[in-house]
Amino acid sequence: MRKPLIAGNFKMHKTINEVVDYAKGLMNSVQGVSDRDILICPPFTALSEVFKIIEGSHIALGAQNMHYESKGAFTGELSSEMLRDAGCDSVILGHSERRHILKEEDSFINLKVKKAVESNLRAIFCVGELLEEREGEMAEAVVKRQIELGLKGLSETDMEKIVIAYEPVWAIGTGKTASPDDAQTMHSFIRKTIVSLFNTNVAESLVIQYGGSVKPANINDLMAMPDIDGALVGGACLEVDSFSKIITFT
Ligand code: PGA
Repeated sequence: MRKPLIAGNFKMHKTINEVVDYAKGLMNSVQGVSDRDILICPPFTALSEVFKIIEGSHIALGAQNMHYESKGAFTGELSSEMLRDAGCDSVILGHSERRHILKEEDSFINLKVKKAVESNLRAIFCVGELLEEREGEMAEAVVKRQIELGLKGLSETDMEKIVIAYEPVWAIGTGKTASPDDAQTMHSFIRKTIVSLFNTNVAESLVIQYGGSVKPANINDLMAMPDIDGALVGGACLEVDSFSKIITFT
């Protein structure tokens, strides 16, 4: 059975002290929650300090991006080794803000996904269509392409380190959530795509998160869907109270 994964993507929010205080509050508030996995992805600057707080707890640490090379002349970039050194066991890759604002392409994301897996990091691999792609009935084709190219070259064993986050771009930070039924339809399509690329075992074990305006008010209906295995939460993860409510969905 797939264990739900609730992840918080802080994006470009919070100072080191703010993240440390947040982590102390979150530890307190989700104490004893063991039937779901919890992950926080604060900004790079806060990673090593917050790791000192959560190390050994049931809250895992992730970064929001990385480069695919181990080291070298890549000004402003960080390697998977550096993320591990800071205490991360996970990394978000291919987020739509990086695809669309920073122009990251499928092939570039694929290099990072492969490097993350090789470095024993869990990759939260994000996919999702734009509003015009959905309106043009291209949503499934776009997501399929992102998956085929982004996961190219991975083995069945590599897939144990992959989580897919389906985040329709039109639902991110807009307050518009995909309806649970629409999200379920896409999640089921993603799982079928994984069956065709790998096999049923890989597809059935794969955790597929939904992301895009997830909040305490809609998490229960989303999580009730058979192929929705968790959430990647942006805005609503920034306060301990609302993130805790999402984590403790029923
Ligand atoms: P949101 O962001 O919850 O603020 O819509 C989700 C994400 O971008 O991961």
